[in-house]
Amino acid sequence: MDWGMKNRLSRIIKPDTGKTVMLAVDHGYFLGPTSGLEEPTGIISELIPWADSLMLTRGVLRASVKAEQDIPIVLRVSGGTSIVGNSLANEGITVAIDDALRLNVSALALSIFVGSEHEKETLLNLSKLVDEGQKFGIPVLAVTAVGREMARDARYLGLCCRIAAELGAHLVKTYYCDNFEEVVKACPVPVVIAGGKKIEEKAALELAYNAVRDGAVGVDMGRNIFQSDCPVGMIKAVKQIVHQGLSAKEALAIYNDVKKDKLKS
Ligand code: 5RP
Repeated sequence: MDWGMKNRLSRIIKPDTGKTVMLAVDHGYFLGPTSGLEEPTGIISELIPWADSLMLTRGVLRASVKAEQDIPIVLRVSGGTSIVGNSLANEGITVAIDDALRLNVSALALSIFVGSEHEKETLLNLSKLVDEGQKFGIPVLAVTAVGREMARDARYLGLCCRIAAELGAHLVKTYYCDNFEEVVKACPVPVVIAGGKKIEEKAALELAYNAVRDGAVGVDMGRNIFQSDCPVGMIKAVKQIVHQGLSAKEALAIYNDVKKDKLKS
């Protein structure tokens, strides 16, 4: 792996812990102004101090993040669908590599839809993106999207992660599941987990803890942070789990303390 690729990856997976807390705020590319992301500028600036990197689209990056901000960017470069369209799986590549270079991003993120009617196009999109990224030393994060008809089990997620890695992804994002350690073991590149739909803060912290315990290098979490009653408390708590190895219980106490202070202020 060339110097540039290693340098960019080290901006995401921190060398001192080998872990990462990626804040995912790219949901609008197909969900529009989803709850918690109605006004991205405010929530992003509130959470940036505790995020190791931001996963977002070029539109929100340009509109909502100051160019002077020192935060590694994981650029969402697949899309072309919407929640009201007829198939979320029918994504294409939405950003040219030269624009990603101009935006000085640290990684490129693209979804694959294994098992969907658009499986082949999305996997070939991943391959093309890896080729483009390799030319310029930009790593690719493959996002294993799960079709409604798919079961989020180790067999399916293990298949998606392994295919993504075989095609050249440098980092894979998937979901936590039972026997998650098998998914990690069978994937030759680092794995992070998405948080998925908003759940109770305690459960989301347990999810983060279990994923890292079972081999994930961290999280690429969005809704369970920015839709929380106290987003700052949540990202601080998640960061303590991922980088400091706190238990979910200890992290929940951090979340509650921050929430209490916020209510007082
Ligand atoms: C949206 C995404 C998100 O980046 C990913 O799902 C992580 O966000 P969340 O924790 O909210 O699931 O790919 O399409």
